[in-house]
Amino acid sequence: MAISIKSSREIDLMRKAGHIVARVLDILRDASKPGTTTAELDDIARKEIIALGGKPSFIGYLDYPAHICTSFNEEIVHGIPSNRKIEDGDVLSIDCGAIYEGYHGDAAISLCIGDVPDQTSQLIEDTRLSMIEGIESSTVGNRIGDISNAIQVYAEARGYGVIREYVGHGIGTEMHQEPMVPNYGPAGKGLALANGLAIAIEPMLTLGGWQTKLGGDKWTVSTEDGSISAHWEHSIVVLDDGPEVLTSLTGRP
Ligand code: MF3
Ligand code: CO
Repeated sequence: MAISIKSSREIDLMRKAGHIVARVLDILRDASKPGTTTAELDDIARKEIIALGGKPSFIGYLDYPAHICTSFNEEIVHGIPSNRKIEDGDVLSIDCGAIYEGYHGDAAISLCIGDVPDQTSQLIEDTRLSMIEGIESSTVGNRIGDISNAIQVYAEARGYGVIREYVGHGIGTEMHQEPMVPNYGPAGKGLALANGLAIAIEPMLTLGGWQTKLGGDKWTVSTEDGSISAHWEHSIVVLDDGPEVLTSLTGRP
């Protein structure tokens, strides 16, 4: 599959796809209250993506059965919305994707519901900040390894586990394109970043180890040790004057 270098016309369509995802995630954040089920969030996501002129991208992808992923606590990614109610004290990660005129946007947020231990809220904030480290390393002249290394160094300096089996990715006319964007690895290695390269940067950090296990539903990925996990993701494009965050209405994280 081709490396995802985009023309300015394509970047404009990706911006539109990204902004749909950003707006839907804002709505889902506000709707994530104790007592709400993740199936209700899924329903909101489907309706809002369509109302904003997009097409949900997750449903049917490798037979995935929903429009968003909702992952609780020790679940890292790919949790399937269900009748489970959100509860006070939960960590909830929501991953959302949409297609606009053939171009994809993909982003994720992690939320503290009500009161959580300080260590947990710090994990969520530090995971977001590690994503920003990766975004800020996404400059022409750097390589993919510089993004990976920036995330790993930031996370490990704070004692977190860095998930290895799931990684960021190129994005464009497909949700997952080359190159892979790992959240760990040596600086200075890998593909050189060029103007128009569109990638999704998505660190997954834990309060424990990096090992994972797959649930009985064959989708939900959890920490092997049961530790709490957080996941943040933005789709970005590398530009000559610096990275633009496509899945943010401001272009900034
Ligand atoms: N958004 C996820 C990613 O970042 C993919 C979701 S998998 C799906 O790669 F099956 F739910 F689509
Ligand atoms: Co992604």
